[in-house]
Amino acid sequence: MGSELIYLDNNATTRVAPEVVDEMLPFLTEKYGNPSSMYSFGGHLQKDLELARERVADLLSCAPTEVVFTSCGTESDNFAIRGLVDAYPEKGHVIMTKVEHPAVKNLAPYLRKKGLRVTEIGVDRKGNLDLEELKAAIDGDTLLVSVIFANNETGVLSPMEKICEIARERGVFVHTDAVQGVGKVPIDLARLPVDLLSFSGHKFHAPKGVGGLFVRRGLKIRPFLIGGHQERSRRGGTENLALIVGMGKAAELAKARLPEEATRVRALRDKLEQGILSSIPSTEVNGDPEHRVPNTSNIGIHFIEGESLLLAMDKHGICASTGSACASGSLQPSHVLRAMGVPFTSIHGSVRFSLSTYTTEQEIDAVLEALPGIVSHLRDLSPFHSMADVEAFGA
Ligand SMILES: Cc1ncc(COP(=O)(O)O)c(C=O)c1O
Repeated sequence: MGSELIYLDNNATTRVAPEVVDEMLPFLTEKYGNPSSMYSFGGHLQKDLELARERVADLLSCAPTEVVFTSCGTESDNFAIRGLVDAYPEKGHVIMTKVEHPAVKNLAPYLRKKGLRVTEIGVDRKGNLDLEELKAAIDGDTLLVSVIFANNETGVLSPMEKICEIARERGVFVHTDAVQGVGKVPIDLARLPVDLLSFSGHKFHAPKGVGGLFVRRGLKIRPFLIGGHQERSRRGGTENLALIVGMGKAAELAKARLPEEATRVRALRDKLEQGILSSIPSTEVNGDPEHRVPNTSNIGIHFIEGESLLLAMDKHGICASTGSACASGSLQPSHVLRAMGVPFTSIHGSVRFSLSTYTTEQEIDAVLEALPGIVSHLRDLSPFHSMADVEAFGA
């Protein structure tokens, strides 16, 4: 990492691993052929495409033929949900949650416009899904349950085994948006019976613009991009070979590094979190501390504006986020934190720190040194410093 920048926004995107760049370079220079060509200059590249597929499949413990390459996580989510809905026109009900990423959440109005019913299941104060509400929502018309695997804002993990059990008992398909889970926690699709799982390369040290969808063998799904025979006719379009090769390498690295890195990153995340909670009054963790990916910490800092904090941290070279990158820029507080019932005194001051394999202890120490002063300065500018101030103001 560069000497001044402290990049703690890895749920927005990650640094491309140098090994990934090395692996990709020949495909951006001399190996420019089309893998579908009959002559060997192009056709030989088919084996590089398939090696990438094997590496991704190995990370997810599924068959290579169950991996379809796409252009991003958003495409994978759209392919999964729209592709399944179109394949089963006789079914009219889809279930999702109130804490989905916009790549799923914003499909709800689209589906409703098509005439489907969409139910959005709530979460508790810690961000855990209400499984009773899920059970009650399923009826004979339900086609699909789509649940985020790991929340991009809080890192909270969904109880996927239980969700699959509930859905399968009633003959309902399960899709999971695992964009924030892949590479961070082990995912074993030989055991976890989801039907569809989305992922995105740039969240695990591959470049932006490549992702994938796991489609369980035998599942009926309409192709999202109708065109050529690529991806076994499930996604037309000449394969973006360089990026796919890069994602394959990133998957291989993630698999090799996962157990040790998860432990190391968790320890750094916990140090950051404990340090903030103990040095800055009126702070709390948003999201169940027991059921989270190891790299994410969402901290509610009462009585400040998160955006002011981000700007102040930026002056110290610290990159973090107030929520999903897609939601920032809007003054609306995060729909995820609202669904969790985070109080108004901290919902605007909630900041997400997300670490990666490139995060160092020195960086965490530097944040812990800078943050108390920054927050104290911002609170001096705020009309509210405590709940007593809020009550006196009648807010
Ligand atoms: C949970 C989740 N799903 C989907 C996406 C979209 O992925 P992409 O940026 O590759 O389209 C993101 C990106 O932030 C995400 O965090």
